[in-house]
Amino acid sequence: MKGILLAGGSGTRLSPMTLAASKQLLPVYDKPMIYYPLSTLMLAGIRDILVISTPADLPQFRRLLGDGKRLGLRIAYAEQPRPEGIAQAFLIGHDWIAGSPCALALGDNLIFADHLSDLLRRASARAQGATVFAYRVRDPERYGVVSFDAAGRAVDIVEKPAAPQSNWAVTGLYFYDARVSDFATRIRPSARGELEITDLNRLYLEDGSLEVERLGRGCAWLDAGTPDSLLQAATFVQTIQSRQGMLVGCPEEVAFRLGHIDADALRQHARSLGKTELGQMLADLADGHQA
Ligand code: TTP
Repeated sequence: MKGILLAGGSGTRLSPMTLAASKQLLPVYDKPMIYYPLSTLMLAGIRDILVISTPADLPQFRRLLGDGKRLGLRIAYAEQPRPEGIAQAFLIGHDWIAGSPCALALGDNLIFADHLSDLLRRASARAQGATVFAYRVRDPERYGVVSFDAAGRAVDIVEKPAAPQSNWAVTGLYFYDARVSDFATRIRPSARGELEITDLNRLYLEDGSLEVERLGRGCAWLDAGTPDSLLQAATFVQTIQSRQGMLVGCPEEVAFRLGHIDADALRQHARSLGKTELGQMLADLADGHQA
């Protein structure tokens, strides 16, 4: 399976921070925001990744991530000239996807959960259909909202409903089978002029092949798109890392644990981070001091 990291958009809710900088490169505690969804795709076992961003911001992502070899990945890049919707990623990525199954992670979404890898591996291993994740929120009207029947099956999915039928928001992480590019060509722009990811998910729902995994109490999903959620995400990462001594959203750690890179490569990376806490934690990991 391949994976797209979508990191365009206008980031107006984080203005003026995003007037001269990409939202997905802003810091979430000690790392650029995009490291978190990148780590999530890696944990799903994905090694072919397409980063999509604005023409102005794309060079910065290239500078940060390069061709991905350093992480045992193959990273490609594509421009989204205007923010015309999340589902447009599959039109922009059509040739790169080349008919393979493909996941999509929004560059400003962070998911933390126990056993996350198992959940992600299960989703990426499904040969047919799509998998999305639902998370209970207090303000569902800001998101795509999924409602369930008495048996717990998803029956409807609506983008930013004025009167939400449930509190279950669809998170910014989606897994699709090989039909995704074809399905994406069937979507038409919504009233706000965007190709909506909710419309793509509804096509899978109508096809009877949309799996909705509900994320429970022990799981955190944050979209760092507002000053408050950006601060919450940073505090969350800081709390886990300093209390448990475990890294959150660190692609180098994931690459090492998955065997994409060896201890020497990790040590070299740790050295490049100088005397930072992150560099020290990676050095400890390379030396076998961190379980
Ligand atoms: P949003 O948060 O909905 O939009 P935005 O990033 O433009 O921010 P704001 O609402 O503050 O103006 O987008 C969710 C994610 O998807 C985010 O990572 C940006 C990305 N995105 C694109 O890359 N292209 C798009 O066309 C859209 C709509 C979103």
